[in-house]
Amino acid sequence: MNTQSIIKDSSLAESGHLKISWAYRHMPVLRRLEEEFSSKKPLAGERIAICLHLEAKTACLAKLLQDLGAFVAITGSNPLSTQDDVCAALVELGVTVFAKYNPSYEEYTNFLNKTLETSPTLIVDDGGDLVSILHKDKQEFLTNIKGGCEETTTGILRLKALEKESLLKFPMLAVNDAFSKYLFDNRYGTGQSVFDGINNTINLVIAGKTIVVSGYGWCGKGVAMRAKGLGAKVIVTEVNPIKAVEAYMDGFLVMPMLEASKYGDIFITVTGNKNILTKEHFQNMKDGAILANAGHFNVEIDLKALEAMAVEKSVIRKNIVDYKFANGKRLYVLAEGRLVNLAAGDGHPAEIMDMSFSLQTLCLLYLKENFKKLATKVLNVPSEIDEKVSSYFLEAVGVKIDSLSLEQLDYLHSWKL
Ligand code: NAI
Repeated sequence: MNTQSIIKDSSLAESGHLKISWAYRHMPVLRRLEEEFSSKKPLAGERIAICLHLEAKTACLAKLLQDLGAFVAITGSNPLSTQDDVCAALVELGVTVFAKYNPSYEEYTNFLNKTLETSPTLIVDDGGDLVSILHKDKQEFLTNIKGGCEETTTGILRLKALEKESLLKFPMLAVNDAFSKYLFDNRYGTGQSVFDGINNTINLVIAGKTIVVSGYGWCGKGVAMRAKGLGAKVIVTEVNPIKAVEAYMDGFLVMPMLEASKYGDIFITVTGNKNILTKEHFQNMKDGAILANAGHFNVEIDLKALEAMAVEKSVIRKNIVDYKFANGKRLYVLAEGRLVNLAAGDGHPAEIMDMSFSLQTLCLLYLKENFKKLATKVLNVPSEIDEKVSSYFLEAVGVKIDSLSLEQLDYLHSWKL
């Protein structure tokens, strides 16, 4: 038992172990990395601080990094995505955990600070909170840090802002931007798990409804695709003309939110930007419209404005808040506007997180070996790592592909015909 940890309830461990073992059975690439590396303990001597959505797949990553020799301290990357039973199981497995479901703002910040106070040498961040605190309030811990990895689009934006001001103090690998990450995790993972979270929560039919998806990036494409597959009429809102053309050619209606807000039965924001649904949109919305967010932070739905407009607010079902207007109209917000797939569900499927977390593992090994040679910048994941993860995935699902002949390779690298 690790005495440093702060969790909700250690007696929940049994259910956490069951969740972790089910997830790990469906994470063949991580298991392959375990086979390849665990006897060599390549992370011996490293202290890894992790801030990720703290559920079963993340627990598999933490456990693997520990098996590869590292000391691992972990916290959650969103107050509502932490699962207390998984935390309890992780503590029994020897990982140091600072997290619980639905902490106060002070507790949540304290957990991030405690994770950094374990003096990490490597960072795994999701949304940029650990890196941001390290550069603002915990600079005394910067000296030990060799580098880190960022899991999501919003975190990469924050890192690039830090880099632009020449303030970034260690190399950060943009795991989110690896092909083996965003093509599958952001698109298929978010696409599927957003509807897992929404359907678990509302238990209503999707077919025939009008769903407004805001943001047609990698996540938005997945969400719109799955909404269409479930039989919804889909409207996309965008600010980028190229993404808007893509949505249009993919067969979706494209229009400004001011217009779309009149038609939607369900709104799903996934832009990584703030104030996507605001007062003017709430005014337009139909009675009974459902509002959900899948972007990293809970800033996409202007809840303050909604609260100011409502005459009554009540929790009517787990993860559904009913906002009643003076004219009797009701709008329903899911999971407090936090990422609905994690706050009201189990997050991405295990096979998807298998790829994302295998990238994380290989990137940490790469950072350990190469940190002295790396620029203190936001860096791309080396293509060998990216391709290795997809190759291992193909092997795991029994799919073989062709390989280039020498003649073809030559042809592809020649300027003569
Ligand atoms: P992306 O950068 O590929 O796409 C975002 C899209 O939103 C862009 O096309 C942009 O033009 C559009 N956008 C920005 N402001 C807008 C506005 N005011 N109205 C309409 N569209 C707007 O980003 P990606 O990878 O799709 O990620 C989106 C968000 O989802 C990020 O916060 C990311 O961190 C988060 N994320 C959430 C996951 C989850 O499990 N829920 C998984 C992966 C990422």
